[in-house]
Amino acid sequence: MIKKGIILAGGKGTRMSPLTKAVNKQLLPIYDKPLIFYPLSILMLAKIKDILIIVNKGQLKQYKRILPNGDNLGIKISYMEQNEPRGLPDAFVIGEKFIGKENVAMILGDNFFYGQNLSSLLQANTKLKKGARVVLHKVLKPELFGVAKINKNKKIIKIIEKPKKFFSDLAITGLYFFDNDVVKYSKQLKPSKRGEVEIVDLLNFYKKKNKLSADLIGRGGAWLDTGSMDDFYKTSNFVSAIENRQGLKIACLEEISFNNKWTNKKNIKKSIKFYGNCEYSQYLAKLL
Ligand code: TTP
Repeated sequence: MIKKGIILAGGKGTRMSPLTKAVNKQLLPIYDKPLIFYPLSILMLAKIKDILIIVNKGQLKQYKRILPNGDNLGIKISYMEQNEPRGLPDAFVIGEKFIGKENVAMILGDNFFYGQNLSSLLQANTKLKKGARVVLHKVLKPELFGVAKINKNKKIIKIIEKPKKFFSDLAITGLYFFDNDVVKYSKQLKPSKRGEVEIVDLLNFYKKKNKLSADLIGRGGAWLDTGSMDDFYKTSNFVSAIENRQGLKIACLEEISFNNKWTNKKNIKKSIKFYGNCEYSQYLAKLL
């Protein structure tokens, strides 16, 4: 059972400059809440309670102001800083102590997932004992993503970062499940031409050992990456459309925690006081 999860929430945010000059991307709003709420909600839906958030050097204070330690959510949030964006697998080097001898899930701080059956997909993947598992989603423009080809047993037979020639339209999303070898393998990686250690290289370690498998989010599910200005606003519009139609919030952390029986009404009242008189608080009050 995977009980630990990492959110990689640093990064340069180059594409979103000047918005990201003073504020980290993950603290910017996707419609009615900070972006960081969305990947955190995904780990919570996977029933992961022990969470490490990796942030840029110097940005800890800002994060702790909105997500102090998880007490109010019945989870444990710890933080570590990354001096500079050295690449995604750096998460497992920074997180070595946090991971200890266990398996671990990792989600990128700017990834958005939504859809029916998502919780059961997440919980099924936390059962991973050995190897690595990625989550794939069909995209129109595979040349923009890390792409994978799978066989009938959902084993990955080929992966290429931003392929120039078409071989599959299944993009590798920013949600991964790893066994404990991930720490050892991540330490062995050498930076690529762009000066970062690459997730594809890490996945290839597993692939060579025939230990890389995949799960799929079907067409009823959504995976959006909020890396560019345009994607950011599209994701905001998506959340707004769904929330205002259904009257249900996406990524309301207290609600997920309450449904998981990790928190109580007293804590939710505390959250309402903390957020102040806003629409999010009114939603929480309705829950009670
Ligand atoms: P990227 O999209 O690769 O980078 P970025 O968010 O800094 O944006 P840009 O390309 O515009 O400069 O990162 C994906 C996610 O992972 C994002 O949430 C930032 C995070 N990240 C880190 O925290 N540390 C890292 O070393 C890298 C490479 C990314």
